[in-house]
Amino acid sequence: MKAIQLTTYGDISENIKLSEIKKPSIQKDEVLVEIFAASVNPLDIKVASGKLKRLSKTPLPFTMGHDVSGKIVAIGADVSDFKIGDEVYAYTNSQGTFAEFVAVKANIVSLKPKNTSFEEAASLPLVSLTAAQVLKRGKLKAGDKILIHAGSGGVGSLTIQLAKAKGAYVYTTTSTDNVEWVKALGADRVIDYKTEDYKTIVKDVDMVLDPLGNQYTEDAFDVIKKGGKVISLVGPVDEETARRMKLNYFANLFLSWKRRKITAQIKRKSAYYSLLLMRGNKKQLSEIAELVEAGKIKTSIDKVFSLKETLEAIRYVDNGRTKGKVVITVKK
Ligand SMILES: NC(=O)c1ccc[n+]([C@@H]2O[C@H](COP(=O)([O-])OP(=O)(O)OC[C@H]3O[C@@H](n4cnc5c(N)ncnc54)[C@H](OP(=O)(O)O)[C@@H]3O)[C@@H](O)[C@H]2O)c1
Repeated sequence: MKAIQLTTYGDISENIKLSEIKKPSIQKDEVLVEIFAASVNPLDIKVASGKLKRLSKTPLPFTMGHDVSGKIVAIGADVSDFKIGDEVYAYTNSQGTFAEFVAVKANIVSLKPKNTSFEEAASLPLVSLTAAQVLKRGKLKAGDKILIHAGSGGVGSLTIQLAKAKGAYVYTTTSTDNVEWVKALGADRVIDYKTEDYKTIVKDVDMVLDPLGNQYTEDAFDVIKKGGKVISLVGPVDEETARRMKLNYFANLFLSWKRRKITAQIKRKSAYYSLLLMRGNKKQLSEIAELVEAGKIKTSIDKVFSLKETLEAIRYVDNGRTKGKVVITVKK
């Protein structure tokens, strides 16, 4: 089968190749998905750069990609909740999805929303799961106020819609060109970061979603109420997450030094801070499919590429200006 493989870590232009590889076989607890579409995430760029190589057990070369939609063409002996031909979607971090087929653990696969194309469905898994997991961790409820940075990004655009579906008041930041588009997603107050300073507008919110990091993570504590929550996707590793990582003494010491400024901010605001590391989740994906079918969540596709144009798609996402999601069509 055809697959986009990473041959070496480093420069994406040199190391991403369209290859002919063996079609995957499945384990008892897996399904084989014939891929119709996949989508690109900044995660793919971080993986290719080698920044996450210490967390990966997969030897090079390997197939890239995490988001998939397609049809089930084979089912493992222990899988009882799917049948051949089911149209599904998933986020997976074991085998790559920039390919014609992928084997996925059935317990992270869901039926795709019935009212979407494969391209639309493939745009959802990583970003919608992240959005759902962020709001769950922050225990967002009706009437709460939330600041969602980068509202025009993949994660931001989904989190706005899920937060609105929960009945929250949503502030979001974006650049001038995207203001109207983000308003249409339902945000209550869109802040144009080119002309406005969000720190003078947002006060005492219950929660901040920080997908930007660095100064944005620290400054989030200035706009939350006392006892508020900051959930970051890219900030320093929090104490609880570090504990779960079972790191050695020196690694822990290093992480605790890295988060020293955040630790001071947590104390100052009696705040909750967490670095979220999203995971595949069948139940949440099924709930998202229901919300899409009910018209409560819309998909947002910026650009569609073919499998052989994947490098171009990755470069496009790497520019950091994506409005919604970038999708790869594998089969029409
Ligand atoms: N920890 C996790 O589990 C996890 C999960 C998902 C994502 N992430 C990370 O979270 C980050 C965001 O992911 P994504 O998929 O949403 O990325 P993305 O779609 O590539 O984000 C692009 C968007 O960011 C906006 N943006 C950039 N700088 C901004 C700024 N200073 N203020 C406001 N908006 C800004 C851009 O809008 P303008 O063009 O208007 O500036 C653009 O629409 C990535 O680093 C990703 O790796 C982590």
